[in-house]
Amino acid sequence: MNKNIEKLFQLASKSERTIVGLMSGTSLDGLDIVLCKIIGSGRNTKIELLQFETISYEENFRQEIKTIFSRRDVDLEKICLLNSYVALQHAAMVNECLKKWNCNKNEIDLIASHGQTIYHAPKFMHQQEKFSNATFQIGDGDHIAFKTGIITISDFRQKHIASGGEGAPLAAYGDYLLFSKLGEDRIMLNIGGISNFTFLPGNGDAKKIISTDVGPGNTLMNAFVQQYFTGIDFDKDATIAKQGKINAELLIALKQNSFFEKTFPKTIGPELFNLNYLKEAQQKSETISISKEDVMATLNRFTADCIADAINQINSSNSNFTIYISGGGVHNSLLIENIKSQLPNCNIKSTNDLFVNADAKEAVLFALLANECVCGNGIEIGEGLTQIPNVSFGKISFPN
Ligand SMILES: Nc1ncnc2c1ncn2[C@@H]1O[C@H](COP(=O)(O)OP(=O)(O)OP(=O)(O)O)[C@@H](O)[C@H]1O
Ligand SMILES: [Mg+2]
Repeated sequence: MNKNIEKLFQLASKSERTIVGLMSGTSLDGLDIVLCKIIGSGRNTKIELLQFETISYEENFRQEIKTIFSRRDVDLEKICLLNSYVALQHAAMVNECLKKWNCNKNEIDLIASHGQTIYHAPKFMHQQEKFSNATFQIGDGDHIAFKTGIITISDFRQKHIASGGEGAPLAAYGDYLLFSKLGEDRIMLNIGGISNFTFLPGNGDAKKIISTDVGPGNTLMNAFVQQYFTGIDFDKDATIAKQGKINAELLIALKQNSFFEKTFPKTIGPELFNLNYLKEAQQKSETISISKEDVMATLNRFTADCIADAINQINSSNSNFTIYISGGGVHNSLLIENIKSQLPNCNIKSTNDLFVNADAKEAVLFALLANECVCGNGIEIGEGLTQIPNVSFGKISFPN
């Protein structure tokens, strides 16, 4: 037997695996790196988060990605170059972390690498009949495997599309395996660049699980701050938004998009929610000249409303759902207040309350998908295969 396949067979047969999970989202803030021990698989999965670190991207790295990120007019050579470059940067960050954690590479079974999304094109956005949903992550898995010496599973989103989905959100599988709880209706809400949630019904009926994007997370607020406030990447602790007041006309205009009429599940990206989206809403509502602080206050409220409205859609009877928030948005106190004020019957917590660091959760979920790729036997959830397809995710790269 080929040695690589033999090794894969051995690690798939173990009762527990040590997996490095890597996540880099649309905020382009940095690479989240987790080290976790995953015991078992499927419904019997248990996880221990051993280490977590976010390595912030250096400005020139971020700028390189921005030359192609969610743009339609890019240099094809640049995509080609960045596909390996992002992988090499990520591999170096993994090597650095493992060293810092005093971790011997032989003890690591797998790396789960999400890669860097550079374009997300569900059919709703590209509107071209003959083409399917599409999404594109760069940061080639072979390069990561070779440079780290560790078997790497990457490019998780393509199988989701191949089997009828939109390539996102993929959180439903891990959310179900780790956080489903009889007796508690749970919403696992991630506020990254985009906001998405998984609804986990407390009656344990896996068919009723819903997983969807709901609208912008930090993406619009980040884009605005980066454009109009020099030297800062995001509205830390909502300092700017707190100085402004919500503009009702602009808020109404921001909500006028057919994305919000679409039924769940649906996905979206900064290809829609960007500065151009804001500009059009400002033009429509004749609010071009309002202060930057007022724009920020309104964007903050808009982001919260997208989340609260979507949750209210599945909680029409106003039950007391418990919402567990993860992602960087959890640190935006005004955003959380705005969400809370509109969901008075819900308990709002963070995944820290479930012993998974809110900033590490997405990376943990990809480690879990890698675990399922090598030794899981499918996860059947949601109504209908095209919504939450029951397939394995990821491509396997060997180090040599
Ligand atoms: N203290 C803070 N106050 C306000 N916002 C914060 C704070 N800390 C982080 N954030 C926001 O969180 C963002 C990063 O979130 P996160 O890393 O979850 O997003 P992401 O990398 O885009 O991942 P995803 O794939 O989930 O979209 C930052 O860009 C910033 O907007
Ligand atoms: Mg991030």
